[in-house]
Amino acid sequence: MFRLESVCKSYGSRNVVEIPGCVFTRGLIHGIMGPSGSGKSTLLRLLNMIEKPTAGQIIFRGHDLVTCRPRLSLQRRMAMVFQKPVLFEASVYENVAYGLKVRGLQRADVREKVLEALKTVGLVHLERQPARTLSGGEAQRVAIARAFVTEPEVLLLDEPTSNLDPQNVGMIEDLVRMINRERQTTVILVTHNVFQARRLADHITFMYEGKVVEDGPTEAVFTSPGDDRTRAFIHGDMVY
Ligand SMILES: Nc1ncnc2c1ncn2[C@@H]1O[C@H](COP(=O)(O)OP(=O)(O)OP(=O)(O)O)[C@@H](O)[C@H]1O
Ligand SMILES: [Mg+2]
Repeated sequence: MFRLESVCKSYGSRNVVEIPGCVFTRGLIHGIMGPSGSGKSTLLRLLNMIEKPTAGQIIFRGHDLVTCRPRLSLQRRMAMVFQKPVLFEASVYENVAYGLKVRGLQRADVREKVLEALKTVGLVHLERQPARTLSGGEAQRVAIARAFVTEPEVLLLDEPTSNLDPQNVGMIEDLVRMINRERQTTVILVTHNVFQARRLADHITFMYEGKVVEDGPTEAVFTSPGDDRTRAFIHGDMVY
């Protein structure tokens, strides 16, 4: 789905992401773990074309994300849910419908897809409610519905369950699994939660100070991590 080649992102003189090579495979749930400040959100922003790498190439299904034109049509093949859910000052329905409307879908098709998405996240009853009045868990579920309603090829999730109670966490994890299995959507999930990574991800990428220090199938990473920092993080010994 993505191939990174000699990618570097710096702010001022500091390299916050430095990845010589890395791939994200189609159809999998990829977990990205790492301490705070290790560059996880920056990496997602690079993949989602919100930011450009300072150097190197990111190839998305054969297209170079930096040089390709038009950018919008590529960006529309992906969807991202941000660390802090961003919803518009509008109803739940309008928030979920937005991506479909800008893609020019007919009104009746928009309605059908939005209601189906709201049903999937269990929020049909809140369709008319202003998004700003939602609870944290509801807002995060609306953000996820808005992301997958457009049927993206890849879903980028930045800590979608931080600050949620166990019931909402379970619901969102089930949703992610369902989207991946039933729609074959590739998922790239940033999470601090090692248990969540183990439950959901097929493949783990562990970042430390902007670098990928571990990259492999989930069970292998958890049972025999190759890097001491990964081991410390998995065992909860890393202070961050
Ligand atoms: N726009 C920016 N300007 C300057 N520095 C930035 C910018 N965005 C991120 N950084 C820095 O880059 C580093 C990586 O940030 P990033 O948000 O990617 O970390 P993270 O791994 O997502 O952390 P967290 O787990 O806390 O969300 C941090 O040190 C951050 O301060
Ligand atoms: Mg982050």
